[in-house]
Amino acid sequence: MFERKRPSSPRRTNCLVTDVGVAELNKQHLRLASYAVELNQIVEEISAREPTQADWRHIDALFSRICLFVTTHFRSEEELMEKHGYPACAEHKGLHKQFSNDLADVQSKINNRNLKFGSKLSNLLWDFLYVHINEVDIKYKEYLEEKGVI
Ligand SMILES: [Fe+2]
Ligand SMILES: [Fe+2]
Repeated sequence: MFERKRPSSPRRTNCLVTDVGVAELNKQHLRLASYAVELNQIVEEISAREPTQADWRHIDALFSRICLFVTTHFRSEEELMEKHGYPACAEHKGLHKQFSNDLADVQSKINNRNLKFGSKLSNLLWDFLYVHINEVDIKYKEYLEEKGVI
């Protein structure tokens, strides 16, 4: 598992990828975490210099993969929540939509070659995953457990 200490955080766990009770979704979270590591590394590397054409191509390719997989993951979770009548589904979908919009904003900056390679970008996926999995996704686990689905 990927561990990331956040000493200032009041959250109950330091484990980024908390078990959400559904094997396929856990697997997808791990893949997203590995994308977050990759994004973090490349952005930190590029932030130390002027991005070259090769850097932009690398970012293009990685970010496209991230956006595609985030879409796949969100669809998987949303289908599961809908299937089991999860009451907070609309709210959860709204948070997915919001993050998808954030990704689309970054994507358009990449397309325009007008992106700042700073900590905001390098932590974009980390920060979303950390908060979203531990505080939002975890709630469907509780619901599915109560319903006896998992
Ligand atoms: Fe998730
Ligand atoms: Fe989610």
